[in-house]
Amino acid sequence: MMRTRTQVGIVGAGPAGLLLAHLLARRGIESVLIEIRSREYCEARQRAGVLEDGSVSLLRGAGVGDRLDRQGLEHGGIYLQFGGERHHIDFRDLTGGRTVTVYAQTEVVKDLIARRLADRGGDAIRFSVSDTEVAELDSDRPVLRYTDADGTRHEVICDAIAGCDGFHGICRPAIPAGALTVWERDYPYAWLGILADIPPSTDELIYAHHPAGFALHSLRSPTVSRLYLQVDPDERIETWSDERIWAELARRFELPGWTLQQGPVLDKSITPMRSFVSAPMRHGRLFLAGDAAHIVPPTGAKGLNLALADVAVLAPALEALLHGDGEPAASYSDSCLARVWRSTHFSWWMTTMLHRTPGADEMEQQLQLSQLRYVVSSRAAATSLAENYTGFVPLPTGPLSTGPAPTGAPPSGAPPTGAPPVQAERSQ
Ligand code: FAD
Ligand code: PHB
Repeated sequence: MMRTRTQVGIVGAGPAGLLLAHLLARRGIESVLIEIRSREYCEARQRAGVLEDGSVSLLRGAGVGDRLDRQGLEHGGIYLQFGGERHHIDFRDLTGGRTVTVYAQTEVVKDLIARRLADRGGDAIRFSVSDTEVAELDSDRPVLRYTDADGTRHEVICDAIAGCDGFHGICRPAIPAGALTVWERDYPYAWLGILADIPPSTDELIYAHHPAGFALHSLRSPTVSRLYLQVDPDERIETWSDERIWAELARRFELPGWTLQQGPVLDKSITPMRSFVSAPMRHGRLFLAGDAAHIVPPTGAKGLNLALADVAVLAPALEALLHGDGEPAASYSDSCLARVWRSTHFSWWMTTMLHRTPGADEMEQQLQLSQLRYVVSSRAAATSLAENYTGFVPLPTGPLSTGPAPTGAPPSGAPPTGAPPVQAERSQ
């Protein structure tokens, strides 16, 4: 067993864990970041694609926005399609200029991994570990244990641990059951997603309500499209040939005078839909962030944005805690949950307005169509959608760095020095 010491142990190198490690390093705080998957797997995992402008400002302000600024595609609205019509919701007009940016989660993850490795070298992220455990959460020296890719067991004594290990991770289950309240809703449908080597057939995302089920046309770049179809949750991907997927997409997006361009399918998978919130997002010296604490169905494009927002709050709270001020850490959970619940409601609202519930009566469809007609014909209703989609609850404001790092704690790999304080900008 190898025993070492760090300030913050981070479990999971998804967007939350990677950005947290980077934000902490910019405050001179040492962390150990462990990940069960390989670097290649993390960089290829197809997931979200839409960043709120607050998330863009956060990444830019943290010095990891160069490629995002060059390659991200700014979008000023979306289309809602229903009843054979396609309507534009103009975010810029409705919200005083706010937008979202299409930049894939894979690219956010690649940028953050590259930055950590450039700043800290090869051991910045310990990929392909196994048998991860967290313990001693009620003490002020919580412990992280894992086995590295060579089979060596490690024990890392920490000042705090961040559980950024997603919905199926080990951190949330390490909290005693009675200490958490959980709210959960499963939806009776799933999304079949494809990545296609074909330029998008649309200038803005299309969210389509159709009697056969929901469909979404998104994109990854000027040459790569991302599309989704509502399917049954127990559907097997093998039963969906590329031809069948394209035919179903063409049916659900059909509009006179418009054609869905089809091309080679590069990736396809099925994702279940769930709303889940657990609170508080802290137990002793364990702090949960991102999908480890909450899940939203992807219809509102919120999951990735929530994960980034959590760690923007967590980094200064941990810095203050390590300097002896526990107040920001005490309010971490409540600060995040206000945003989490807003996004949970918006994602639920978009999901239930746009999907067909198997077995539902004809009235459900009429109610959905009435709501959709209201959204596209009332400026107040359209503004509500636009301000929620672009991000309603602002990220923390003001300088995120409160002072120099405490000395003496880092056991290995000197923390970077001279890093400028990170400025998180207000999202509106
Ligand atoms: P994750 O990205 O899940 O990262 C957690 C990391 O922890 C992973 O790398 C995992 O391998 C690692 N890990 C897990 N267990 C351990 C362990 N025991 N030890 C060490 N490491 C561990 N959102 C959208 O907005 N739009 C979408 O289209 C969309 N599609 C999605 C599709 C899928 C299949 C999933 C699961 C989510 C999707 N989301 C989508 C949600 C969005 O991608 C997530 O909200 C976002 O990834 C959350 O980031 P995170 O860092 O909290 O968690
Ligand atoms: C995506 O591009 O993957 C995407 C976009 C919008 C959503 C969900 C997913 O609501």
